[in-house]
Amino acid sequence: MGIWLEGKPLADRIRDQVAREVALAREAKGTVPGIVAVIVGDNPASQSYVRMKEKACRALGLWSEVLRLPAGTTRDVLKARIDELNAADHVDGILVQLPLPPPLDSQEAISWLRPDKDVDGFHPYNLGLLMENRPGLRPCTPTGIVELIKSTGVAIEGSEAAIVGRSMIVGKPLAAMMTNENATVTVCHSRTRDLAQVTSRAGILIAALGKPGFFGPEHVKEGAVVVDVGSNAVSDPAEIRRLFGDDPKREQDLRDKGYTWAGDVHPRVIEKAGWLTPSPGGVGPLTIAFLMKSTLEAYQHRRG
Ligand code: GUN
Repeated sequence: MGIWLEGKPLADRIRDQVAREVALAREAKGTVPGIVAVIVGDNPASQSYVRMKEKACRALGLWSEVLRLPAGTTRDVLKARIDELNAADHVDGILVQLPLPPPLDSQEAISWLRPDKDVDGFHPYNLGLLMENRPGLRPCTPTGIVELIKSTGVAIEGSEAAIVGRSMIVGKPLAAMMTNENATVTVCHSRTRDLAQVTSRAGILIAALGKPGFFGPEHVKEGAVVVDVGSNAVSDPAEIRRLFGDDPKREQDLRDKGYTWAGDVHPRVIEKAGWLTPSPGGVGPLTIAFLMKSTLEAYQHRRG
């Protein structure tokens, strides 16, 4: 039987440290770090992420603003607004909430950011620094995952790590980070031929596929560290029963909201894994904590 690896204790430590440094900056300089989130259209998941980021800023003493643009915003208007934020001295971090509604091109919009304000670490310049293993702003979710794995005491160096998912937000930058930590990394995706054969060899397994409860014990090595990055809204009652049996909390969720959250890893994997992150409650809190830390670093670097 493995150990549930919660994100909150580590996230709280990071947040406390950021809050202390923000308070010191306020005393010494009379300014605090601040972030502007740019959100285009009304994607409900994006709205909810941005609300969580605003709440974290308030709790830690940073300032935040949300720039809401309508779904039909043109490329030129978006670029002009990003240029204004790039030029504004009091703005330390700019975050373009992804995905952008078509025909806007997410990669192109990210490339308009000033790299030293790119607190998501998605700009090609910052990704280049990551590839070179030089200091720079790093993507927040992969950073949280690496720190969470380190918190188990399991050595990353020399381990076999399987990452399932090759997105620019999680899989690809995480592969670079784990390689920088001297793991032997395999990146799997939808075209991987025998997925279970690859993942069941890995002492560290990171699931970022976006399919609720996809990974079962057959995908997992005995005693492995399993990080579940999946965050899927599930509304089908049969699917909820497959994942959670007749858990009354899930049935309550379904009645209250019409869905419940599920990760990519089936909860019964806890019986075989050494560690398993819950979803929600695993990686999520760390993403936000490291976003706050990156905003503080961007402030210190540019006006500290
Ligand atoms: N959409 C999903 N995850 C993220 C993230 O970490 N940052 C941004 N900007 N958008 C996202």
